[in-house]
Amino acid sequence: MSRKVCIVTFGCQMNKLDSELVAEALVAAGHELVPGEAEADVVLFNTCSVRDNAEQRVLSRLMQFKPRKREEPGLLIGVMGCFAQRLGAKLFEEIPHLDIVCGTRRFPHIAEILEKAEAGPVLEVEEESLTAPGTLDAHGRSLHDGIQAYVSVMRGCNNFCTYCIVPYVRGREESRPVESVVEEVRSLAARGAKEVTLLGQNIDAYGKDINSSLAELLEAVHEIDSVKRFRYVTSHPRDITEELLKTINRLPRACKHLHMPAQSGSSRILKAMNRGYTREDYDRKLAMINEYAPGVLVTSDFIVGFPGETDEDFSMTVDLVEKAKFQSAYIFKYSPRPGTKAEQNMADDVAVDAKKERNQILLATQEKVSAERSRSLVGSRQEVLVEGLSKTDKSKMAGRTKSNLICVFDAPDNPESLVGELLELEIKRCTTLTLYGDIVDRIG
Ligand code: SAH
Ligand code: SF4
Ligand code: F3S
Repeated sequence: MSRKVCIVTFGCQMNKLDSELVAEALVAAGHELVPGEAEADVVLFNTCSVRDNAEQRVLSRLMQFKPRKREEPGLLIGVMGCFAQRLGAKLFEEIPHLDIVCGTRRFPHIAEILEKAEAGPVLEVEEESLTAPGTLDAHGRSLHDGIQAYVSVMRGCNNFCTYCIVPYVRGREESRPVESVVEEVRSLAARGAKEVTLLGQNIDAYGKDINSSLAELLEAVHEIDSVKRFRYVTSHPRDITEELLKTINRLPRACKHLHMPAQSGSSRILKAMNRGYTREDYDRKLAMINEYAPGVLVTSDFIVGFPGETDEDFSMTVDLVEKAKFQSAYIFKYSPRPGTKAEQNMADDVAVDAKKERNQILLATQEKVSAERSRSLVGSRQEVLVEGLSKTDKSKMAGRTKSNLICVFDAPDNPESLVGELLELEIKRCTTLTLYGDIVDRIG
């Protein structure tokens, strides 16, 4: 039976990619994708569990389907991804009108799961390997903005940071063989991909289980020269090596950007988080980046209000933000995740108001740093990969610099001809996180 499927995605880039892979598999099985929930007869939510509010949002969306399901019993509603993996069968208790619970390692079977769901509720949460050649190699999915593609190079995480649910819902680290990644990048390139983002929760650990490394993988994909930019996220500070930095520095099409979340600037809190590095180690990594890969910009994530975080601990985080001069940073308020070490053994003892206040202070500190950084680029020339018309002003185009900053410029008469091209722009002005420039030259 052919169905009209709407996929709604929450969470990180991994989830966005998984949704694309699911979409591709469903289309291959003869189903049709529709953009709106109203016109669909199957609605699949790909979900995130990283903070409580991410789960609450999904639950309330699911509750809204109750009356429609009563009127339209043929409608199928499914939950996929991290929240499905975390709660499993319990989700059917919370949401009795649910038809499918599909965990983070079962989505390659989605077409089969949909078929089974025609006969009654389906629960699929067993852990299975996703890196065997052929399992995830997907070649027909659409590219974002026509030029960008995500490629999963590893799955899972072994780090067990004490606050984090990811290792529980995404399973253990598994790297895909170099050849299988290269083959997928090649086929995406043949279909027009100009920018490829390699994805892993802890991408610097790539290859540890298969006697390879991220440096080696970057070298291998970099051979595919119709791809003009290679990005890679997320970097764990502990696993950044001199070899990797030298490789990034040497390869012209490797992005000069590392997303290397610090989480905190206090060694005491970092220890309680089980991050595997101290503040001094983190400072040393930043110095290494400057030495071996000068010009690489670093972005970070922070958690404020972790259990036991004192004013003094927090002031060390502020100090790190001021000194490290991150290009930008995401800041989150600590949210206890069921079953993690922090949730089980450490009291969530920072008051809600203190979390809010620290969040605002850190945001303001980072904003000053970001604005300063952007201002320092006014007058410089930047290589920009053009992504398309600006989302807010159709007389402008937007792209990103090598270090991942958004750059906006006036659209020429035939804007489409520039999409996927590299331009040299002279930066004329900026806001906190956006550069504005004029075209100087077309690089290719
Ligand atoms: N693999 C990446 C990030 C995964 S989750 C890494 O290791 O950095 C993305 C971000 O969510 C984390 O960097 C962290 O800052 C935040 N986060 C994770 N668990 C959280 C929790 N329980 N409460 C608040 N923020 C959390
Ligand atoms: Fe979570 Fe830590 Fe793994 Fe990142 S490295 S996904 S924060 S456990
Ligand atoms: Fe990503 Fe959220 Fe899962 S951040 S890995 S979708 S818990």
